[in-house]
Amino acid sequence: MRLSLLPSAQWTACFVLLSVLCSLFTPAVSVKYENFKTCDQSGFCKRNRAYADRAGQLGSSFESPYQIAPESLSWKNGQLQGVILKTIDAAGETVRLPLTISFLASGSARVVIDEEKRQKGEIELRHNSIARKERYNEAESWAIVGGLDLSTTAKEERDATKSIVKYGPDGQFEAVVTFAPFGIDFKRGDATHVKLNDRGLLNMEHWRPKVEKAEPKEGEETPVQVQQGEDESTWWDESFGGATDSKPRGPESVALDITFPGYDHVYGIPEHAGPLSLKETRGGSGHHTDPYRLYNADVFEYIMDSPMTLYGAIPFMQAHKKDSTVGVFWLNAAETWIDIIKEKESHNPLSLGIGSKIDTKTHWISESGLIDVFVFLGPTPKDVTKAYGELTGYSQLPQEFAIAYHQCRWNYITDEDVKDVDRKMTKYQIPYDVIWLDIEYTDDRKYFTWDPLTFPDPIGMLKQLDQSDRKLVAIIDPHIKKKDGYHVVDEMTKKDLAVHNKEGKPYEGWCWPGSSYWVDCFNPAAISWWKTLFPYSAFKGSAENLFIWNDMNEPSVFNGPETTMPKDNLHHGNWEHRDVHNLNGLTFHNATYQALLSRKKGELRRPFILTRSFYAGSQRLGAMWTGDNQANWDHLAAAFPMILNNGIAGFPFAGADVGGFFGNPEKDLLTRWYQAGAFYPFFRGHAHIDTRRREPYLAGEPYTGIITRALRLRYSLLPSWYTAFHEASVDGTPIIRPHYFEYPSDEQGFAIDDQFFIGSTGLLAHPVVTQGADSVEIYIPDDELYYDYFDYTPYSGQGKHTMSAPLDKIPLLMQGGHIFPRKDRPRRSSGLMKFDPYTLVIVLGKDGTAKGELYVDDGDSFEYEQGAYIHRVFQYSNDILESKNIGTKGKLTDKYLKSMKDVVVERIIIVGAPASWTGKSSLKGGEELEYHAAEGGKAAWATVKKPGVKIGEDWKIDFSVSHDEV
Ligand code: GLC
Repeated sequence: MRLSLLPSAQWTACFVLLSVLCSLFTPAVSVKYENFKTCDQSGFCKRNRAYADRAGQLGSSFESPYQIAPESLSWKNGQLQGVILKTIDAAGETVRLPLTISFLASGSARVVIDEEKRQKGEIELRHNSIARKERYNEAESWAIVGGLDLSTTAKEERDATKSIVKYGPDGQFEAVVTFAPFGIDFKRGDATHVKLNDRGLLNMEHWRPKVEKAEPKEGEETPVQVQQGEDESTWWDESFGGATDSKPRGPESVALDITFPGYDHVYGIPEHAGPLSLKETRGGSGHHTDPYRLYNADVFEYIMDSPMTLYGAIPFMQAHKKDSTVGVFWLNAAETWIDIIKEKESHNPLSLGIGSKIDTKTHWISESGLIDVFVFLGPTPKDVTKAYGELTGYSQLPQEFAIAYHQCRWNYITDEDVKDVDRKMTKYQIPYDVIWLDIEYTDDRKYFTWDPLTFPDPIGMLKQLDQSDRKLVAIIDPHIKKKDGYHVVDEMTKKDLAVHNKEGKPYEGWCWPGSSYWVDCFNPAAISWWKTLFPYSAFKGSAENLFIWNDMNEPSVFNGPETTMPKDNLHHGNWEHRDVHNLNGLTFHNATYQALLSRKKGELRRPFILTRSFYAGSQRLGAMWTGDNQANWDHLAAAFPMILNNGIAGFPFAGADVGGFFGNPEKDLLTRWYQAGAFYPFFRGHAHIDTRRREPYLAGEPYTGIITRALRLRYSLLPSWYTAFHEASVDGTPIIRPHYFEYPSDEQGFAIDDQFFIGSTGLLAHPVVTQGADSVEIYIPDDELYYDYFDYTPYSGQGKHTMSAPLDKIPLLMQGGHIFPRKDRPRRSSGLMKFDPYTLVIVLGKDGTAKGELYVDDGDSFEYEQGAYIHRVFQYSNDILESKNIGTKGKLTDKYLKSMKDVVVERIIIVGAPASWTGKSSLKGGEELEYHAAEGGKAAWATVKKPGVKIGEDWKIDFSVSHDEV
């Protein structure tokens, strides 16, 4: 965020003026650190870190006060249930914490710890609060969509000190549950891979009444604390930045340490600006001093290489070492901090000799809610991602236009402006699919309306776009302007669908429109109502080619603590905002998704909705972007690690504002950013309202030409990108993939995050993200043959290679052994390419073979669910190129195939063509062959034009070229 200079209401103008004045006294571009808490300023984080420190200091004399009551244990249908007793004083008084360990049919395990007193509502709330008394137990209903079936094969054995459960594929996994102190070791084969409560940092702050203490009289000592050594100062209320959180339930944090023995890399837990391989967080050279924080917030002008929170949160982590990957998912929607330390492996006979000698030790700390943690034992990164996706869902298969290029800025100021940009993109032959409208299109920041002066004819504008099969995305935010006569706010308040303050009244705060209310999408009634706002007949000026952008859904509240809502606000069911904060963005995104599904009766099209805030599961609903970045090289470089981390955390449809949101990029930066953006799964140029216009045609030559070529590269590879999106939608495999994911044995690649593979195409990209660079060091992980994408220069040999990269060049390699599809005819938009012929690129591997896939469907409807798609594998071996169907036939397969019956392969390119083809000009079947011998350091290649084969059919082409010597 940052305020627009076009507010309407007077008081907003004052607010703007004030912030402009304030900004005169602060550096132009820097995060407002003081607006966001450090761990030290967040009571529960500080308390749990102190607990960890105390445990560390006490060493072997420290014992975790949590023990399973053995007699409470019972085993049934793959589930171990019982009670953990927490000893809370020297007299041995205990608190009962119900425990459920579930072993799932998928091979994952789940550990849930609750608190009996809160569960039964046997607690007293302070300040006459009407909040719920239980620990929040509904995160599951938002984040999880499947995979919870219990194992029918898991087996338990118990003795006096422990319970051992064998589970997972062929019973290869084992959970050793130790009773006193409570802890669980998860094993695969002979080795332990994940340990819960290894360091004894399990902490569940049980309910206790506040003991009012008399204020000390002057000269008197402060009274002794109730529990020796505990810092009570933040138990009952907490202030930050002038706001006080009333905390009606007192201290209630949960924490647990999770150790990955022998693992030296951990990834995931987006969203943070920093490297893919997460850093240590407890100080020391090059390390962070604060834990990674997950508390969705509008952190504008965010800084690089920081564990600070950003807009979204996915509490899912993968740990990786040579040949082994495991993962954990911490299902908790409250503010969460994660400490990471790496230590020389403690003596662990079970992991002797395996992998590295480093243990990565993590400490997960959440403000409230349950301990609810899933453990995935891999053994490959793909297994972990897949198992996580079984629970939280896989990426939505998007509208095909959504993976093409999006042209956005804050703001296209009139409908004529939009039409003009559209015409110019066409004139300059720059492909794009979507133009975006930011908040200024509305009448006075009232969503679902159009400014009558600047957007008098939205339908005319949409029609012009439709002529080129282009779309419009309009922003709709969750804050609803408080204004008499605005039908949306009137309906929402009348139906009582806004988020409440702690008194149970609609919560009022400031955002773009000025004074606003926030729709509470945790409420099913709010979702039903939200749906009524989107039909074409209700949202006047909208049409079939209009889609939606959901921003500010952390939620961003300009005058709220840490730019968001007070934690003691109340949502549907009287859950405190504290409990659900990190889910808030997902619930709004979900409501819009449901609404787009029901825009018109009988119209079943895939929604496209971009969200800024997200949680585990948001991948089912659309795309995300990394928020308000800056037009500088550091932000360009930061985007890939962020997108890669998002991808391995199950949400690969990700991108960053191309060009940088704040500031004006120099032309070389803008150009490099387009070259990088062409590899973002979500590819959108965007800019702040105060920036100069920067549509690609404005850059001038040579920049416009280079940018256009980057865009065309994206467009020509759309069939390959879409195939990768399909893969992500069925098994969660990231769309752009980091090295460790593709080469889990290659230790040299585990920390690489500036290059990546695109789907399963074998394309390895290393876009330039540094100023003035004219080459990059590209790392090749194996002994396969690689070729420059553009000129077929061969590269081979495991290790680093220098690739020249002047401004007009994108370092992009093709790995031998792959076949990937393209469409090479330049068009205005992807929609116009629908029935264009394909080019197949065959990159022969060292063994002379290659393989690849194509997935294609109508790119718009849900008919693919009934078989309306083409899914083929292409294989080249022994001189034969073959196309085979790998789709499953459904009700609509034939209909779809019919619609595609004239779509052919117009060209086959063979890179690394054998020298034996020299001098040949046709194939056995008579197809024309054009052979280019290796020269000038470039590999030999060949093309077959018009091979006469159809994309939806089985065929074979014989490449033996024996009979037509020239
Ligand atoms: C937020 C968004 C940004 C948008 C602006 C105005 O700052 O992150 O992309 O342009 O709001 O809506």
